[in-house]
Amino acid sequence: MQTVDKSIAKLLSGGGKDIPLFKVFMPQSILEPLNACLMSGYIGEGPRVAEFEKQLSGWFGNDNVLTLNNGTSALQLALRLANVGYGDEVISTAMTCSATNEPILALGAKIVWADINPWTANIDPEDVERKITPKTRAIMCVHWGGYPCDLDELNAIAVRHGIKLIEDACHAFGATYHNKPIGSISDFSCFSFQAIKHMTTVDGGALTCKSTSDNDRGRLLRWYGIDRNAKLQDLRCEADIVEYGYKFHMNDVSATIGIEQLKYIAETLKKHRANAARYDEAFANLELVKPMKYKKDRLGSYWLYTIRVKNRQKFVEYMKQAGIAVSKVHARNDTHSMFRDFKTTLPGVDEFNSEQLSIPVGWWLEESHIRHIIDTVLEYQG
Ligand SMILES: Cc1ncc(COP(=O)(O)O)c(C=O)c1O
Repeated sequence: MQTVDKSIAKLLSGGGKDIPLFKVFMPQSILEPLNACLMSGYIGEGPRVAEFEKQLSGWFGNDNVLTLNNGTSALQLALRLANVGYGDEVISTAMTCSATNEPILALGAKIVWADINPWTANIDPEDVERKITPKTRAIMCVHWGGYPCDLDELNAIAVRHGIKLIEDACHAFGATYHNKPIGSISDFSCFSFQAIKHMTTVDGGALTCKSTSDNDRGRLLRWYGIDRNAKLQDLRCEADIVEYGYKFHMNDVSATIGIEQLKYIAETLKKHRANAARYDEAFANLELVKPMKYKKDRLGSYWLYTIRVKNRQKFVEYMKQAGIAVSKVHARNDTHSMFRDFKTTLPGVDEFNSEQLSIPVGWWLEESHIRHIIDTVLEYQG
């Protein structure tokens, strides 16, 4: 038991460092409801999933919420609901987790990379519009680190061209744009409740839809294309499956964890944001280390606190010596062999990718950690 604990701690801290970049949030209070669920005789998709969805609907201010087994499934399902198919084009960003873009390939569609703003890492709406063709079916945007993309501009482009906007909000639970929750704005928003996100269901995800008909279709497709609410006769053997679906639904065990996690999420977000504000102030006028340039009309979730650093490898070594875990977190996607057919020039991605790095910002940081991180960055600056 001891060995397992130690190796997990090492993993989380990125190799035995003192201040981890990520940490699993799991309150003790989960044990009682979890035990009750596990012993209830019902652990598949049932009443706890329905309850978690109800609570999430309240959180997002959107009745169309589908909980799923992970964020990648949410992206896959959103693309299906946007009717993306073989040979279609999806405009996307290369600066993300590969999970954003692999579901596009899974549908036989083509990726058209749009560039990013190198000071937010989010997709550039002007470049998106330049890249639209008659084959474009959807735009995929990613809220890097939880900082919302330019949603007014992106939604206006989507409407103008009769295509769908899909938000990869896997970093962005709790973020708001013009005071509206992410998850209540665009055609589709995709969330991840994977282990190290602000809130976790161990693995899990959610898809929010703008339209009720997309939501209803998504509810079918997340479980083989079968209506679970239809009157049960012989284990639904008599149901006709009209279009193929997936096994993407959430189960009651994950939903039990999610319901408990929701009680803490506001406090978690508050801590991430407060820590980020400390860094914003401390790093405002440095030469070698620069914070991102964020607008005040939206509020990020700060899953990451990303900086741009001159001489990044030296900085990484410096932070390592000081016991602070840092990482690029995601590598640009367009250099992967699987995406070789979609190559294009992306100066914004080149610029951001060469300097970007994330430092610890989460709920687990104590005052002494924050001070140590700020002091170390200031010392590096010299
Ligand atoms: C931007 C982004 N999109 C999608 C995903 C996939 O989420 P999941 O691991 O829940 O499938 C992740 C995972 O961390 C992510 O960072």
